[in-house]
Amino acid sequence: MDLLDQALFAQIVEIRRELHRHPELSWKETRTASRICEFLDDLGIAHRKDVAGTGVLAEIPAANEGPAIALRADIDALPIHEETGLPFASQVDGVMHACGHDGHASMLLGAAALLAREPQLPAPVRLIFQPAEEVGRGAPAMIEAGGLDGVGMIFGGHLDRHFPTGTVIVTDGPVNAASDQFSIEIRGSGGHAARPHETIDAVVVGSLLVMAIQTIVSREVNPAHPSVISVGRFDAGTAGNVIAGHARLQGTIRTQDPEVREHLHRSLRRIVESVGQLHGAEVTIDLVEGVPVLVNSGEMATLARQVAAQIVGENNVRMLDTANMGGEDFSWYLEQVPGCYVRFGARGDQMEGYPSHSSRFDFDEAALAVGASYYCAIAKEAGRVVAAKAD
Ligand code: NI
Repeated sequence: MDLLDQALFAQIVEIRRELHRHPELSWKETRTASRICEFLDDLGIAHRKDVAGTGVLAEIPAANEGPAIALRADIDALPIHEETGLPFASQVDGVMHACGHDGHASMLLGAAALLAREPQLPAPVRLIFQPAEEVGRGAPAMIEAGGLDGVGMIFGGHLDRHFPTGTVIVTDGPVNAASDQFSIEIRGSGGHAARPHETIDAVVVGSLLVMAIQTIVSREVNPAHPSVISVGRFDAGTAGNVIAGHARLQGTIRTQDPEVREHLHRSLRRIVESVGQLHGAEVTIDLVEGVPVLVNSGEMATLARQVAAQIVGENNVRMLDTANMGGEDFSWYLEQVPGCYVRFGARGDQMEGYPSHSSRFDFDEAALAVGASYYCAIAKEAGRVVAAKAD
């Protein structure tokens, strides 16, 4: 596949590897942002640093001043100790680009280089280099900082090891789940393990809660609507012969339908209150809403599919065949402006099967050329659509 000229491909591979060597956690992407700005400077693209903390906004002008097409890359890494053994492995202890956001930044810079070569764009292009996707807060912060001002449509994507390199996955409807978190405090009263009648055992109350919570999805939700509640953490107790007076549960809720989301929140509160009453314990819940469900509209998915077909051929444009319950904060942008979020196949022929967020995760760098070409093409095609509408 010769989507990019060799010089540009080599350049974006180089910057990908450099970002990979120096990963930075959410809200700490200062070195990453500086490197992105240097690259943009070399291209002569105007940009603004320190947006929403560590974000970068760049603008490639067009002849008209109409609505812009935004392209977004997330740039943060994860608190994982890298074990790939790659020559460009992380040099930062305990921090790793294990989700491919180094690749996202690099492919968007590749697109910037291609767009900067265009004599005339149908609409201005806004490049959003967004911090803190992994904590689900970067997108709303960039919106708050004006990232979407004057934007008519927005496009983004994720590298995906589930699909071979050279494919683009474009799905209508929900493509990422809403993701909420909860923390439950159980206050009973502790005492001697041999005299339970003198106590209210927080471990027993917590255990009952964990099991009761499992019935919400299995017994209350239409099985046709995917949803998950997982308790990932259960803290309690200090010794085997001491009944714990206090326990804490922490968990996550994933849904793809706003009504199901509401329902799960209500049921969780109801069960928490009831189980507390059942055992005379004081049980409280703190529920924090995270990213909303990410939904591609049919119209925008059709546009993205047409453009992707120009790049990789119709046979290599695919759909997700099962629901993805992962969260993605691009959903905040799509609540404001139309757009589409795709996935770029990134599994090379010889690659072993380490998924994203694994300490051995890597992706096929040939996918960077697909992403860069797609972003350039969608900016032009969508630009023609918004320019025609604005006329
Ligand atoms: Ni990611």
